[in-house]
Amino acid sequence: MATQMAFLGIGLMGQAMTKNIVGKANLEKPLILWNRTQQRAQEHSSNIGHSLVATTVKEAVFSADIIWSCLQDQKAVTETFEEILKMDIRGKLFLESSTVVPDVTNRIAKEVEEAGAEFVAMPVFGEPSLAEKGKLICVPAGPEASVLRIKPYLVGVVAQAVIDLSGEEAGKASLLKIIGNVLIMTTMEACAEINVFAEKTGLGVKNAQKLIDNFPHAAAHTIYSTKMINGDYYKEEAMVEVKKARHLTAQVLELAKANNVSLKS
Ligand SMILES: NC(=O)c1ccc[n+]([C@@H]2O[C@H](COP(=O)([O-])OP(=O)(O)OC[C@H]3O[C@@H](n4cnc5c(N)ncnc54)[C@H](OP(=O)(O)O)[C@@H]3O)[C@@H](O)[C@H]2O)c1
Repeated sequence: MATQMAFLGIGLMGQAMTKNIVGKANLEKPLILWNRTQQRAQEHSSNIGHSLVATTVKEAVFSADIIWSCLQDQKAVTETFEEILKMDIRGKLFLESSTVVPDVTNRIAKEVEEAGAEFVAMPVFGEPSLAEKGKLICVPAGPEASVLRIKPYLVGVVAQAVIDLSGEEAGKASLLKIIGNVLIMTTMEACAEINVFAEKTGLGVKNAQKLIDNFPHAAAHTIYSTKMINGDYYKEEAMVEVKKARHLTAQVLELAKANNVSLKS
């Protein structure tokens, strides 16, 4: 029987990912979309086609075999799964792509599995413009058979690469995501310092960007620096809100402190 997929969370990442799922995954059945703010899901559904909007999270989960979620933060994930766990979810597979700390991921994985369903944690690396291009790096962890079931939706659909942690407990993927955020934060910090240095010395950010673009292995620096000097972080609807960046930084620092790791930068 054809697989029915639902996607929970039609934010910036969810919009980009679902556009690629509908466009490239050859879904036999229309993708079910659910978003807390329903209108956002409705508008997005009209844009991408081959999808329909569920009015409640329960309605989305009830009809689906695979339920993929990408929600703002831990609170959103916890609240959404509280709702889901009130239902009969036997036989369903949950694929969770939000950024959540390992303990919370492991707790939800356990609860979902005890309820007779499968759980794969799969945080992603790559901001929304990369997600739009289907160039995310996906980190799935959980039972091998479950990870195998979701592989057809990764490379060539939403992802350019998969860091496969199948067979590991789900929280290991969250751990890699949080540790990996250090790379993003230090890259942004380096770009910010170079750009300020270039402006204050009269070199100018355009000239600094020429070096950044041509520097070996500088793809990430190019992305963040281009956004910085184009003012993407100043726009009304920011690519990354400061409060989200602070939240992510706090997660990293808490985890580091709990493990006696000193992160000086
Ligand atoms: N943006 C990035 O660069 C990036 C990169 C990699 C990974 N991620 C991760 O991907 C996830 C989503 O990020 P995003 O950039 O798509 O965020 P976003 O644009 O702010 O979207 C957040 C989504 O979560 C929903 N939401 C918020 N609170 C909720 C709640 N209490 N209950 C149910 N739904 C709730 C929002 O619904 P409404 O529309 O109703 O507000 C929206 O659909 C995050 O965990 C983030 O860490 C982001």
